[in-house]
Amino acid sequence: MQNIDEPAVALVVAAGSGTRLGGPVPKALVEIGGRPLVRWSVDALAAGGCDRAVVVVAAELIDDFRVALAEASIPVELVVGGSRRQDSVAHGLAAVGEQGIVLVHDAARPFVPAQVVQAVRRAVGSGAVCAIPVLPVVDSIRRVGTEGSVVVDRSELAAVQTPQGFDIATLRSCHLRAAELGLEVTDDAAVCEAAGHPVTLVPGAREAMKVTEPFDIVVATAIAAARVASGSEGPVAVDLNKEKQ
Ligand code: C5P
Repeated sequence: MQNIDEPAVALVVAAGSGTRLGGPVPKALVEIGGRPLVRWSVDALAAGGCDRAVVVVAAELIDDFRVALAEASIPVELVVGGSRRQDSVAHGLAAVGEQGIVLVHDAARPFVPAQVVQAVRRAVGSGAVCAIPVLPVVDSIRRVGTEGSVVVDRSELAAVQTPQGFDIATLRSCHLRAAELGLEVTDDAAVCEAAGHPVTLVPGAREAMKVTEPFDIVVATAIAAARVASGSEGPVAVDLNKEKQ
């Protein structure tokens, strides 16, 4: 059992190629608002109560990440990743220690507000085995198949974000089990759920968006500018009346 304000270790996965973004450098090293995405991510996790970070990177970029994270706000250890996201998480888990709370985060979500990080951390500190941030789905959704498409009730759906929080020992054993069974997953909550553990939901935030496509850079640049101007790690206040004044 953890305690509610126990600091967590951040496990930031940044070993993907980020090909959908285009451009000459991998996604996590793209600079927005004067800082690489991975640096924003590590600092966001620190603001939410992580006291150290394990960052998982591609072997050939380890020196670039060392430079990108040289002035991060918490100590950082770099670990080499694997071919799938779940392999990168498994490699990172070997470096996080045996006990406590781990928050697994996509480097591609640089602007997760401190409040979301804190909510995930505190849910695990209060006894949840696995806690994840989610958002309601705002678009209408259809399931598309070879015979056409059918509407899906969006009120039953939620979009899943990171960081996802876990008791370290439990997540390690769930990942070992997933590897033995050859499970293919896109996040760590799925690894835990497959082992029979309940998943606790906490409110996510639009700012925890995953920077994936060139369009997202436009939004991310605006968020970074607002953060730099306000000097805060919290959600950016959008004043819809500003134009009218
Ligand atoms: O590809 P996707 O958007 O799902 O990647 C989510 C996160 O997982 C990214 O931050 C990416 O760098 C990371 N990743 C990784 N190792 C891989 C693939 C993805 O660390 N082999």
